[in-house]
Amino acid sequence: MKSLPTNVTIIEVGPRDGLQNEKNFVSTDRKVNFIKKLTSAGIKEMEITSFVSPKWVPQMQDATEIVASNPELTRKLVLAPNQKGVERALEAGCDAIAVFVGVSNSFNKKNINKSTKQSLEELKPIITKLKEKNLFVRACISTAFYCPFEGKIKENDTIALCKEFASSGVDELSVADTIGMATPIESYSLFSSLIECLPDILLTAHFHDTRKMALSNIYAALQAGIHRFDTSAGGLGGCPFAPGATGNVATEDVVYMLERMGIRTGIDLDALVEAINVVSPSLTRRIETGYYQLATN
Ligand code: HMG
Ligand code: MG
Repeated sequence: MKSLPTNVTIIEVGPRDGLQNEKNFVSTDRKVNFIKKLTSAGIKEMEITSFVSPKWVPQMQDATEIVASNPELTRKLVLAPNQKGVERALEAGCDAIAVFVGVSNSFNKKNINKSTKQSLEELKPIITKLKEKNLFVRACISTAFYCPFEGKIKENDTIALCKEFASSGVDELSVADTIGMATPIESYSLFSSLIECLPDILLTAHFHDTRKMALSNIYAALQAGIHRFDTSAGGLGGCPFAPGATGNVATEDVVYMLERMGIRTGIDLDALVEAINVVSPSLTRRIETGYYQLATN
């Protein structure tokens, strides 16, 4: 077990993963305000939107406007599934791209209409070109532990896919428990192995909280040596093409846990609650943040 870090980096995915699964369209103005408030709360890295097909994910149809309305962000990180998505993102002024692929072939087909192998072949030259332009590239590895269609994923299959992306030149791997089924033992095991075989790449853990295991999995990943976590304000989120993928782990829960353990996140909990209050009125579910206000007042 590694000693715990003194600081961690939170990568906020609320404006993208958080909102993509919301049925009612959240207005562009509200999304922009949400992003601004998150930035004011101390978030430094954030997936702000995705350049996917608006027919597949209507909530993300305003991606170009979202990027244009946030010129002050130091890194404009967005998801893009293919060449068309990357072209749209670059035209909009993005300087950081997250590509995404499932270890599970069945999930990848449902999510981006291609086999995992086809996606990899399509994405490799795209990544090379992005790196030639000196842009930041992140690869999101979905169904790294379990798949809603294929069940348990072999750890070696996840490691092999991560190695493929690492050798294609990405800066970061965000390794995801898409449907929130991993246990702390599986989290510790996969992240320990990844750190050992890919020591020179940024490794980030992305836990969905379907079964309320995300905080335990984060603690296990911390012990394995991970100090970057994707989280979503208000615990929003889920992939529309992964049955059972409910919200991501809530940013406020992670910040609370880490700060109480003496691990600095640089995020102000009160300001984070203000950011959540910006989007709450547009959501169909209620987000409970009252206990954070009680704890910090
Ligand atoms: P397709 O239908 O196979 O695409 O969808 P196609 O290449 O056949 O093109 C069909 C039409 O879509 C064409 O337009 C294209 O121009 C257009 P038409 O000629 O019919 O007018 N098109 C696009 N339009 C806008 N932006 C694009 C784009 N590409 C094609 N980028 C496609 C393939 C990949 C587009 C589709 O499957 C898609 O958009 N999928 C995205 C699914 C998605 O957003 N999933 C959620 C994000 S991943 C996630 O949440 C997991 C993660 O959080 C980690 C985890 O938790 O596991 C990251
Ligand atoms: Mg996700």
